[in-house]
Amino acid sequence: MLVDGTPYRTVWLEEAPQTVGIIDQRKLPFAFETLELTSTEDAARAILEMYVRGAGCIGAVAAHGMYLAAEECRAAGLSGTAFDEAFAAKGKQLCETRPTAVNLEWAVKRQIVAVTEAGEAAAKVQIARELAQLVADEDAEWCRRIGQHGRSLFEGLLSGKSEKTPINVLTHCNAGWLAFVDHGSATAPIYAAHDAGIPVHVWVDETRPRNQGARLTAWELGQHGVPHTVIPDNTGGHLMQNGMVDLVITGTDRTTHTGDVANKIGTYLKALAAHDNHIPFYVALPSSTIDWETGDGIKDIPIEQRRGEEVSVMSGLLNDSEAEESEILVVSPGSPVANYAFDVTPSRLVTGLITERGICEATESAIHTLFPEK
Ligand code: MRU
Repeated sequence: MLVDGTPYRTVWLEEAPQTVGIIDQRKLPFAFETLELTSTEDAARAILEMYVRGAGCIGAVAAHGMYLAAEECRAAGLSGTAFDEAFAAKGKQLCETRPTAVNLEWAVKRQIVAVTEAGEAAAKVQIARELAQLVADEDAEWCRRIGQHGRSLFEGLLSGKSEKTPINVLTHCNAGWLAFVDHGSATAPIYAAHDAGIPVHVWVDETRPRNQGARLTAWELGQHGVPHTVIPDNTGGHLMQNGMVDLVITGTDRTTHTGDVANKIGTYLKALAAHDNHIPFYVALPSSTIDWETGDGIKDIPIEQRRGEEVSVMSGLLNDSEAEESEILVVSPGSPVANYAFDVTPSRLVTGLITERGICEATESAIHTLFPEK
């Protein structure tokens, strides 16, 4: 996507050897900065500390981190089984950074299988580099296709509207291009509809505690010229009751092959409100976010718990002439804080899944019909 007219992805191989570029998402929307990663350690830190975040982006950065891991194994003079064991250990280190988003483990496992099959150390490094690029390219292409399929939902809603009345879509957190390599999942249909001339307006949940909606989704939509309004997280139900939401689209960090959806905390409440108000609730995801092993999302998906300070301390500009962000305490000092990062929306509340292969019901049979090879 374009940033001030320049095309960017969220992660890329730099021309310099053993170097990966990322957008430092912690700085957005107040500053646009890129960073270089040169070690597995760097990649793990970038994921853990949320320099990068969002399922697809985490997966792609992990794939690039594994390329850096392969370079480190070669530099240590390892080959054969010793290389493979050290490489797998570095993969474990990456996987431990964030437990809920399934793309992370998917990308690391994919690298381990490919690198283990390759011969000499040099070949292993080359395979890891090529696979990092492939994971990024696939992610971008799958999200582009999600946009094309999802656009049909907007076209379907047009018939009940006068020409200039926008379709109001509500989204939660950031499942935009920043959360992937390009295009985004939940935002891809929005961009595709907007680019096709369909009038769209987006209600953007601010998404406490880290405000990915207010900071990232709002910035992205603004960069692309999509009309949008940021709302406090508690507003969606009221808007839905008053006919101000036509459609909800969220992303997901992990969706079971039975259709249960883990996504940013608060998504479940939006799904309940949408259900109560007969508003379609769609989840957009590339197949790399489907967990093909877990059946019961509520019981079996691990929910990451993050530092309480993310809730009790907020950061931002004290006024718009400031260059640096400041932090302020927003919770009564000493009060305990809980910070569950995700929740699970049961499949029965999900109208459909928008994937790179088309839209299907959030049921085991519909998902497997779309992905028969699984
Ligand atoms: O904790 P984060 O920012 O990595 O959370 C992930 C998300 O961005 C959201 O849950 C998003 O809606 C799904 S990831 C595409």
